[in-house]
Amino acid sequence: MELVDFSNCQRRHKTYGGANGNKISVVYDGQIYMLKFPSEADKNRDMEYSNNVVCEYIGCHIFKMVGIPVQKTILGYFMVNHKKKLVVACQDFTHDGKVLQDFGSLKNQMIESSRSGYGTDLNEVLYTIQHQQGMDPVLIEQRFWEMFVIDALIGNWDRHNGNWGFLYDSVNDSIELAPVFDCGSALFSQVDEENMQKIMDSKFETNRRVYDIPTSSLTQNGKRLNYFRFFQEGDFSQCNDALIRLFPRIDIDGIEAMIQEIPVISQIQKTFYIHMLNARYSLILEKNYERLTNT
Ligand SMILES: Nc1ncnc2c1ncn2[C@@H]1O[C@H](COP(=O)(O)OP(=O)(O)OP(=O)(O)O)[C@@H](O)[C@H]1O
Ligand SMILES: [Mg+2]
Repeated sequence: MELVDFSNCQRRHKTYGGANGNKISVVYDGQIYMLKFPSEADKNRDMEYSNNVVCEYIGCHIFKMVGIPVQKTILGYFMVNHKKKLVVACQDFTHDGKVLQDFGSLKNQMIESSRSGYGTDLNEVLYTIQHQQGMDPVLIEQRFWEMFVIDALIGNWDRHNGNWGFLYDSVNDSIELAPVFDCGSALFSQVDEENMQKIMDSKFETNRRVYDIPTSSLTQNGKRLNYFRFFQEGDFSQCNDALIRLFPRIDIDGIEAMIQEIPVISQIQKTFYIHMLNARYSLILEKNYERLTNT
């Protein structure tokens, strides 16, 4: 796999928000892409940048491999002041004039509730899914829980209501689910190589990153959800169903091969992602899948 040099691509005037790093719009191979640049590692002062670019690429590829619609991502670089910056190109899924409406804006429609659209209380989120008028709620809830299962695998701590949503067609006044996007805050993107090695060498440190952190953006009683405990409690049947549906589709060896093929990152970094994905796969997903299916 070779990195693509996006430096000389035609630039577009489209802009993108988001708090994690610079973004520009370019045309590559006849398609519009958002280029995401490395973001600041605000939780780790020893790192110049976080690994959000690579984590976005790996996370999106895992979604793709299990068959959940996701933005297309390509790794490459962009020259800034004679320095090569690693970027991830995310194909713009609004190119045909459709508009991205995030889940938070849908939740803002719930006028009988005074809560903010961007509040992530799980019951409020599920209430919105079940009572919105735009789309079949069953389809939204399925996607929501499938995303939750894969976010649990990749350790995503930032699936807030602005990080998933719908494509709005203003001609037909209809909405459909948007492909999954923004997986940059996963896979411990702010851990540096020295700490990667320490974590791999320690069962205690590894287990902490399975059983305790990261937590989900979703909250219950004002507290962020713990992925492991949530699956273990199994109180949400739609979540259990999503795990039963998805688990057999997770090809953990295929994921390992995809990571091994990534150029530029070090072997320690690759081994760390594989190590953490294997641990989270077996201790969070496999264990609970076996419990639910009595296997
Ligand atoms: N593939 C895409 N096509 C079109 N628009 C996109 C795409 N990916 C992201 N966007 C838009 O760009 C915004 C910023 O992208 P993204 O969420 O990836 O950035 P971020 O800085 O990581 O965000 P956050 O603040 O959630 O950490 C999104 O909120 C969304 O509105
Ligand atoms: Mg975002």
